[in-house]
Amino acid sequence: MIRPDTSAPEQEALFGSGAADYERFRPGVPPPAVQLLASALRSRPDPVLLDLGTGTGQVPRALLAAELGLAHIEAVDVSRPMLDQARDALTPVLGHCTLRLVHAAADAYTPLAGGETRAPHLVTCCRSFHWMDRPAVLAMADRYAAPDAAVAIMGDGSLWTHDADWTRALRELIQRYLGVERRAGTGTAYCEPRRSYEEDLAASAWSDVTEHRFPVDRVWAPKDVIGYLRSTSFAAPELFGERHAAFEAEARRLLDAHASGGPLTEHAVFTVLLARRGGGRSER
Ligand SMILES: C[S@@+](CC[C@H](N)C(=O)[O-])C[C@H]1O[C@@H](n2cnc3c(N)ncnc32)[C@H](O)[C@@H]1O
Repeated sequence: MIRPDTSAPEQEALFGSGAADYERFRPGVPPPAVQLLASALRSRPDPVLLDLGTGTGQVPRALLAAELGLAHIEAVDVSRPMLDQARDALTPVLGHCTLRLVHAAADAYTPLAGGETRAPHLVTCCRSFHWMDRPAVLAMADRYAAPDAAVAIMGDGSLWTHDADWTRALRELIQRYLGVERRAGTGTAYCEPRRSYEEDLAASAWSDVTEHRFPVDRVWAPKDVIGYLRSTSFAAPELFGERHAAFEAEARRLLDAHASGGPLTEHAVFTVLLARRGGGRSER
């Protein structure tokens, strides 16, 4: 099982191999969600972003494109290959913004000593909070974020959790190869967080929370679903061993058959929990 106390090297092995496919096939942050995050930063001079579990840098990229005048980005990830992808993607679009890539577990993040790193005004965690030691991450954000900062916990599920004919058929095919339990890398099964993100936030310093839900319809080509699967922890190539080519061929036939009856559509909901410090007591 993957638990919050899973060690950083295990997490790194889990996410390292799919970095190139992740960059190519994962959908970005939907524009209305970017607008919401931008509104948390817009009125500030020289805003600073701390992005936890940055992956290939989807969140920083979306916020740089929003032209808020971001002054500095701290991008944190346990996976070196993900950080390499993030550096390649972000460097050409940074403009005057500075970037520090931090190879660490999010809860172990520390700013540079000597006050060199300015306190972040926005701390983001997109499609990554469930992998982390969540109370420790929220306590870390409380230690380092600016007094009036916001924390945004966000995500949109996956093609494993999505409920449509084609995603159900695909999930069943994966289960035929790998067993019924959802995998989370080699040798482990995925473990749902024991309490909700809302409960995590309520028990933290970040207890003033608003939920924002943005419906997004995505149309997938079968070949892109195959690429997406390679970037996941539940259908990564190494899980299938020698049977990976056979799995991909079968998955492609299945997806082509479903696509001939119409597009492969995913009706996703991208949810943002935007949290600020509340006045009450919190677990630390
Ligand atoms: C599903 S990806 C999300 C990437 C990006 N935020 C996005 O939305 O596209 C999850 C990322 O979290 C990273 N990750 C997992 N556990 C982590 C931890 N404890 N601390 C920091 N990063 C972690 C993984 O290496 C991976 O890059």
